[in-house]
Amino acid sequence: MKNSKIEKEYLKKIKLFQKYNKFYYDDSDPLVTDSEFDALKREIIVLEKKYKFLNSDNSPLKSVGFTPSKNFKKIKHKIQMLSLSNAFNEDDLKNFEKKIRNFLSLKENIKIEYSAEPKIDGISASLTYKNGKFVQGLSRGDGKEGEDITENLKTIKDIPKVINIEKFPIEIDIRGEVYIQNNDFKKISQKFANPRNAASGSLRQKDPAATSKIPLKFIAYTFGSAKGMNIKSQSNFLKNLKIWGFKTNEYNKNITGIKNLILNHEYLEKKRKEMKFDVDGIVYKVNDFDLQKRLGYVTNAPRWAVAHKFSANSSISEIVNIEIQVGRTGALTPVAKIKPVNIGGVMVSNATLHNEDEINRKDIRVGDTVTVERAGDVIPHVVSINLQKRKKNSKKFIFPTKCPSCGSTTVKDFNEITKKNDAVRRCSSEGFECDQIAKEKIKHFVSKEAFNIDGFGKKIVENFWMLKLIKFPQDIFKLDYEKIRYLDGWGNLSTSNLKYAIESKKKIPLDKFIYSLGIRHIGQENAKLLARHLKSANNFFKLSLKKDANELKNIDGIGDTQINSIINFFLNKTNQEFLFELKKILEITDAVQISQSGLLKNKTFMFTGKLQNISRAEAKSLVEKNSGNIVSSVIKKLDYLVIGEKPTNRKIDQAKNLGIKIISQKEWTDLLN
Ligand code: IVH
Repeated sequence: MKNSKIEKEYLKKIKLFQKYNKFYYDDSDPLVTDSEFDALKREIIVLEKKYKFLNSDNSPLKSVGFTPSKNFKKIKHKIQMLSLSNAFNEDDLKNFEKKIRNFLSLKENIKIEYSAEPKIDGISASLTYKNGKFVQGLSRGDGKEGEDITENLKTIKDIPKVINIEKFPIEIDIRGEVYIQNNDFKKISQKFANPRNAASGSLRQKDPAATSKIPLKFIAYTFGSAKGMNIKSQSNFLKNLKIWGFKTNEYNKNITGIKNLILNHEYLEKKRKEMKFDVDGIVYKVNDFDLQKRLGYVTNAPRWAVAHKFSANSSISEIVNIEIQVGRTGALTPVAKIKPVNIGGVMVSNATLHNEDEINRKDIRVGDTVTVERAGDVIPHVVSINLQKRKKNSKKFIFPTKCPSCGSTTVKDFNEITKKNDAVRRCSSEGFECDQIAKEKIKHFVSKEAFNIDGFGKKIVENFWMLKLIKFPQDIFKLDYEKIRYLDGWGNLSTSNLKYAIESKKKIPLDKFIYSLGIRHIGQENAKLLARHLKSANNFFKLSLKKDANELKNIDGIGDTQINSIINFFLNKTNQEFLFELKKILEITDAVQISQSGLLKNKTFMFTGKLQNISRAEAKSLVEKNSGNIVSSVIKKLDYLVIGEKPTNRKIDQAKNLGIKIISQKEWTDLLN
């Protein structure tokens, strides 16, 4: 058979598989029997194994096993469900602890105790109990809003439905992981790529009876909002969970000192194979709840916790090609297309090669036999090459000097701080002029952290782009739904869902709006800082009329790199045009000040000199928690200059000249009390 004919056959099967899949997971009424479904799956896998050129994102080995279902009601979490930042080695852990010490201004001799808990690779859920009764269960969703999966969660035996214990809080969200044990997974491994997907798929079946057939388990480890709880530490909370009737992890432990964390990590990594469930690392949480509270959060993750990952799974494969991807900021990322291999239950056919310097350093070539690693949700990457297997005719890979998307020259920025050229090469075009950058910018614009348009994923952006339905962000709000309705894969319902999702996002807070623009060096944190300072969209747009953005220099945390990037963004004509269009369409709401009624409302502070018993970072965060503002230079609108030990005299003189109040740390603390 000709290759094209084989591919046609294959794609037909994939399409059928998708159809069955949708019915299987979204409806309680599957189109075919389980064995017919499995047979089709096997046929596809056999074809993929035999003909290596066959490849589809919808392959049963790659697809998650369900499409996000529209069957569940979305409900806001009372307290956001955060994620964790990752640590991979001792240095990362040292850094994690150092940041904590700095923030809390803790001396080296004071030990920090951690609750070390194996990180089960499952699906997190939040269970609300009122007066001891399980009343609502939500999936994590995007962290802010989850799906109401109460009925499905009720089928899980490990989840207590009623808790009749005197000291159980009147109202609490118990959070933990829904997972499937490895031995149970074996029985259904035909249908899913790995236990995590199995748990996720079964948890979100439309019919709870279907969920109940799959032996899901639940382990509890934290809480969201809680009323009437008087517990002072994580380890105590874990003890109480047991008393209340929840399952907790038998390997949970209290540990102090990085060396001991490492020893426990090594021990559990060895134990990993014996465990009944998949574990992808260990979560360390500062044990003391008071310290956790002081440490607080950065955008999506707590300062007081980290996930120490286990070493990755790896496999050996061959590089078939090296492609250059152009990212949102113009960065050219080389990606190795490899012969598909199974790495820890997931089929992998792409592995990142990071950047030009990395290719040169390792002299990576097409045709090379390589070891590819994959750790949790991190993008697979090439770790090493087997030079003995290098083909005789292999040629050195030449990194393109022109952007593969728009043909512009590519450049390497000079880093003023390191005094070296960047490792990353970038397309020199101005953003929307390069198709690939433009597409990536739109993907960023609709992404979860930005406009968060439900169902508007990367594939839809690609598809609509190809069909010339979108070219700039504003086009999203002017879509031709009559055209979309008749596109392959679309219908009346999906089109009106999309329309609804887009319309409902026309109102957006200023910080999200700024972030969505994808200005280089302006991530979520910086966007928040800018929004808080500028307050309204109008003030943001006014920046485009100014030749400089010097006023931004007063924002603590915003430096020259960010300011130059903002100036460049506004100088670009296309950017100005699309901002103008967006302004007409959107309702951009003013930045929410952290707390409107804090003790330091409308007051502006600046610190100089070393503070006693508190770090600068914590002092700033305290001001902000109490609705005050922080600036980083002595300006007219500064209300208080707080002086610590060895202050900068120049700042004091400037403050005196401007008639600004100069206060001691003690006086500042008094203001807070
Ligand atoms: S604590 C802010 N504890 O890891 C604290 N998470 O990337 C966040 N997880 O979504 C959660 N075991 O699904 C916590 N003992 C544990 C955990 C754990 C697994 C998962 C959880 C969360 C993800 C964080």
